[in-house]
Amino acid sequence: MKNKDTERLESIRAAHETARSESSSRMEDYLEVILELVELKGYATTLDISRYMNVSAPSVTKMLQKLDENGYLEYEKYHGINLTQKGNQLADTIRQKHGILLEFFEILGIGHETANQDAEGIEHHLNPKTIRQLRKFITFLKSNPKIVQNFNNT
Ligand code: CO
Repeated sequence: MKNKDTERLESIRAAHETARSESSSRMEDYLEVILELVELKGYATTLDISRYMNVSAPSVTKMLQKLDENGYLEYEKYHGINLTQKGNQLADTIRQKHGILLEFFEILGIGHETANQDAEGIEHHLNPKTIRQLRKFITFLKSNPKIVQNFNNT
């Protein structure tokens, strides 16, 4: 193999090593939905969550146990579900990442629906530094609307 190929393989391996797992992405999505529900009505129920996540109630119950074990939930069986401060923080971070990605994709001229879908895919996989720079870049683009105009005219 050529050196370049080895390098690329090495970098793929390194990226996979640090990549967030599927299951932690899943947990974050639940936290996001629970945060929205809590803000909407003060608490979340298994039924609400299963409706918004489009999954069965038993799967929700299983995930809630996992979230609880990780210290994200104030989970009382016969009352509504709420977030701990730790859960709230993580959910809020994911929501912010989602919002920043969505905004960036929309500036690129990608329609809202696709932008939203793609943001959903990527939101769990960005370092805080990447998000910070992206936010900075968005601010830069917004204060230079001509650049965005020129770009969207190409
Ligand atoms: Co997500």
